[in-house]
Amino acid sequence: MKNIRIHEGLFSIQTAHSLYQFRADEHGVLQHLYWGEPTGEDMRYLALQMDRGFSGNPYEQQGERGYSLDSLPQEYPCGGAGDYRAPALRIRCADGACSADLRYESHRAFAGREPIPGLPAARSAEDTETLEITLRDAASGLKVLLRYSVWPGEEVLARSAVLINEGGVPIVIEKAASASVDFFTGRYEVLHFHGRHCMERMAERLALPVGVTAFGSERGMSSHQHNPFVILCDPAATERQGECWGAMLVYSGNHLEEMEVNQAGSTRLVTGIHPAGFHWTLQPGERFETPEALLAYSPRGLNALSACYHRMIRRHVVPQELRAARRPVLVNSWEAAYFDFNAERIVRFAESARDLGIDMLVLDDGWFGHRDDDTTSLGDWTVNEGKLGCSMAELSRRIHSLGMTFGLWFEPEMISEDSDLYRAHPDWAIAEPGRRPTVSRQQLVLDMSRPEVVDHIFNAMCGVLDHAQIEYVKWDFNRSVCNWYSHALPPERQGELPHRFMLGTYSLLERLRARYPKLVIEGCSGGGGRFDAGMLYYCPQIWCSDDSDAVERLTIQRGTSYGYPPETMGAHVSASPNHQTGRSAPLDIRGIVAQAGTFGYELDPGRLTEKEREAVAAQVRTMREVEPLITEGTYYRLDAGDPAEDFAAWMTVSPDRREALLSVAATRVRANGPFLHIALQGLDPETRYRVQGTERCLTGAALMRGGFNLPPLRGDYPALQLHLTAAAD
Ligand code: DGJ
Repeated sequence: MKNIRIHEGLFSIQTAHSLYQFRADEHGVLQHLYWGEPTGEDMRYLALQMDRGFSGNPYEQQGERGYSLDSLPQEYPCGGAGDYRAPALRIRCADGACSADLRYESHRAFAGREPIPGLPAARSAEDTETLEITLRDAASGLKVLLRYSVWPGEEVLARSAVLINEGGVPIVIEKAASASVDFFTGRYEVLHFHGRHCMERMAERLALPVGVTAFGSERGMSSHQHNPFVILCDPAATERQGECWGAMLVYSGNHLEEMEVNQAGSTRLVTGIHPAGFHWTLQPGERFETPEALLAYSPRGLNALSACYHRMIRRHVVPQELRAARRPVLVNSWEAAYFDFNAERIVRFAESARDLGIDMLVLDDGWFGHRDDDTTSLGDWTVNEGKLGCSMAELSRRIHSLGMTFGLWFEPEMISEDSDLYRAHPDWAIAEPGRRPTVSRQQLVLDMSRPEVVDHIFNAMCGVLDHAQIEYVKWDFNRSVCNWYSHALPPERQGELPHRFMLGTYSLLERLRARYPKLVIEGCSGGGGRFDAGMLYYCPQIWCSDDSDAVERLTIQRGTSYGYPPETMGAHVSASPNHQTGRSAPLDIRGIVAQAGTFGYELDPGRLTEKEREAVAAQVRTMREVEPLITEGTYYRLDAGDPAEDFAAWMTVSPDRREALLSVAATRVRANGPFLHIALQGLDPETRYRVQGTERCLTGAALMRGGFNLPPLRGDYPALQLHLTAAAD
């Protein structure tokens, strides 16, 4: 093993810039020791003990008053046995007892990694290495496998756990985190990504107080409100420097991230499925697999941490067969027509889009059942030929005859009460007996835990996809889940529904990906309500937000960029005035902001003026040129994300550092204002770069250290993009 070293009970997992170390101590407790820059050292010397009042000792260690699970840094701490911090594991045995005490039993290291059945997880590569530690709770017979995988060349460590009931009676799992890490000190800040519909993933940085700070979702989706990704950072860390530690779940359902600073000033980070409402019965012999958490460490600031996640998601999470393909520049019908369309109108959009160089027409919501508004027909995936005026095959044929490709919207996990599906199977909707369900957007949610429901939706989708040429599916999810109840599960298993719901959704995605390997599925959930690495495993891109206002998007895309690479963010140029905010903004800023993601249009191209058409055609050409930079380059946030700043700035640098693209968007202009000073990042200090629009060539060192001043930008929301190219030697 190159990256995993095991020596006398000491386990070291190393990447180029990090070392993660833990040990099985003399009592079999798995003690966390270190996660930081490589030290070349055995970090066991850090494991000091101290007798703390009211921190009890395991029975066999009662003579060692300093040895307490309440204060030891651990790898997978359990609840109920004297560690009062947030646990990774909480169980309830058949007799009602609910403590667990996991002790080391064995380990193995192997090349590659085992898939997590039913769940998305980073893909194994030729050189992936995995360490598996087996722990056991003697009293209950619960065996826990902790898995750690590394990819040489990546800075990410993937962790997950497998729980196996080797006892003779059922065990109920009440909490099973994907990962838990204990830090020796409590001097951290947390960066988290919160939001709401139309304003997702706003970055907020907070000093951790003593006690528990927690973010999560119980909405049946990773949610607009809290992304399953947090970063702990040294208070001095900035985009350019300082230590930071990230934890990202590869999961799209209920999740919880807990950070606890305890009485002794140490910090615990726990991430995994949200335990609220979760309980899972493990019969003897059964196993439960947690989702995966991707952990990453950067000693060189937040931009470098983002680069670790971007690389990992590009190379090991998104479908690799789609990654190499060029992303189509699309025009989506939603903001152009909402529910008001027929085939003639859609073909007209396509005709005027084709002349601008746009590749694909996506027909959004409203083509099925009798859906002319959002109150009806979800679940009835039959083409409304009366509304369209033709079959889907005919519409697709007409789009393709223009030389364009075709995409179609679905919302597979939803059901309208006004649908044939609901009339036939009312029990397929998630709703509690004897209680009227909460409706949202006048729709209910399908019980995806039931295989017959998944089969039905799969067949219904295939019925459409098999009969028309469709290269792209937009997969929406437009409400949060509540009233959790499955008519197919016994009362004692209802707590399994939220996770079984996700397993059902993932199985549907898996089957569609297998049947249509070239199909691009764009994730969506009322914009970016399910923007997570779990969905990215199936969908190389996700509609970033229903707020398509370019100025608002600066905040949304900036927050998203901490964990997710730009090309995963669906970003479209929409009409001005914008439909969500009413703001008017020039095409320049709308184009430049959308070019920081998967580029497309969300407007009626037939309504553009001649001048706008020329500008749009130029935007499409530019996107084609810069696309390799966006999809393969290293992304840097250059502004501080401070609303007091008058501009947002970001850049992308090609892997060979011979090329870069700088984008700047002013959010405020002033008379006689300060210079707009920007210091670049990621360039080669020695190389001289030609900056577009200037005669001079400047070294990377000058551009990064001295930066440069842009003259004050003028007008309404001015924006500019500058290409930097290495000058010939
Ligand atoms: C929410 C999506 O985010 C929108 O883009 C659009 O597809 C609507 N749903 C359609 O109902």
